[in-house]
Amino acid sequence: MTQNSAATTPLDLPRFPKDFLWGVATSAYQIEGALTEDGRGQSIWDRFCQEPGRIARGDNAAVACDHYHRYREDVALIADLGVGAYRFSIGWTRIQPNGCGAPNPKGLDFYSRLVDELLARGIRPTPTLFHWDLPQALQDAGGWRNRDTAKRFTDFVQIVAGRLGDRVTRWITHNETFEHSILGHVVGTHAPGLRLWTDAFPVVHHLLLSHGMAVQVLRASLPRSTQIGIAQSMAPARPASERPQDRSAAGMLDLLHARQHCEPLLLGRYPDELAAFGISQSAIVDGDLATIAQPLDFLGINYYNPHYVQAAPPGSPVPLMPAEPPAQYERTELGWPIVPQGLTQMLLELRERYAETLPPLIITENGMALADAPDADGRVDDPRRVRYLQDHLLALRKAMEGGVDVRGYFVWSLLDNFEWADGYRPRFGLVHVDYPTQRRTPKTSYRWYRELIAAQQ
Ligand code: FCB
Repeated sequence: MTQNSAATTPLDLPRFPKDFLWGVATSAYQIEGALTEDGRGQSIWDRFCQEPGRIARGDNAAVACDHYHRYREDVALIADLGVGAYRFSIGWTRIQPNGCGAPNPKGLDFYSRLVDELLARGIRPTPTLFHWDLPQALQDAGGWRNRDTAKRFTDFVQIVAGRLGDRVTRWITHNETFEHSILGHVVGTHAPGLRLWTDAFPVVHHLLLSHGMAVQVLRASLPRSTQIGIAQSMAPARPASERPQDRSAAGMLDLLHARQHCEPLLLGRYPDELAAFGISQSAIVDGDLATIAQPLDFLGINYYNPHYVQAAPPGSPVPLMPAEPPAQYERTELGWPIVPQGLTQMLLELRERYAETLPPLIITENGMALADAPDADGRVDDPRRVRYLQDHLLALRKAMEGGVDVRGYFVWSLLDNFEWADGYRPRFGLVHVDYPTQRRTPKTSYRWYRELIAAQQ
């Protein structure tokens, strides 16, 4: 595969299986806005955005894409794309403003209306139950460091399943337990902004435990045919050089990322090497690993790029640190290297590692940030995104030809949106959002994706 397949049209892409699922993804906090409406409570991201210096240019998500009010228009855009599924997330504090107790009917009504609107247009709703917006009240009680948060989460899941389970047939428990634990609790660049270093293990464990508990709740209350999974990020860990210390740093990153966040789910155990790494596992209670390792109908994979890593200088709080990607790779607006073959490699490796227990896979996120802007005619032309998506789909097809069972692909994202600590400048959407007017403009990539999907039918 080459990096320069710009001339390829959708029709030249290899065919995907007939029932392959095409989708598009968003998350609640990044698009909804309306943070103080209809009884919604404060989340850790509301608090984080209020702290000076946390978010680029002082941006916040108070309005975002105003999706809370414009969801009908957005569902029409999803429907016009021709996708079969829409991945969104449920804002916990709309349902339980303080993370516990009686549900807020207005919050439930919003997601119920969204689900109905999707179903009326033939789109299968695929909600994520936790996409990083923990109720602040639960954070005040220790957040994911506190085992009780896992119990609170299952209460929330029970409420949501009770209201939407008659219509929602595919669920995702968590989004990226690795990123939420490391960015939010190890390096502190995401909410809740903690720097716990190696003391962050209870966060990882309680996130994974709450996943298993949520699967149990969903299975007990929903029909047998309901599909349940989790969306985990995967990024091959690549050493900055062939020096033994850099290779060992890449091994550590692989351990802390892919292995720590997959093996409990797929093998029912944490990798032994974690203990040698100085991570105390005292948060684990007997029976937890069996709870975590619930059978999954699918494993969601979010892929953006490999992570380049090197050994940290002696005396650093952790022995590894990020490295610059090799200069040969083109970068996105966020500086992320564009390496489609990393997707093929990662999928083949996953299958090799976990052959016995790996469920079918769905790519639950993939996409690129650009600084898109309308031209003089008001059109938003993003050929680099078209090429990115095309090359990643070719890379995905290659892995499938190599025997990896992948059932679907979701583009991140439907709309330009609030990209967490990076604010609004990086634009990931197939649809451009002019924030002052909230005008939506489908980009060239939107039309390309629509043609691609149509050509696969
Ligand atoms: C992923 C997140 C998603 C979005 C993309 C760009 O890590 O799950 O919310 O921010 O990155």
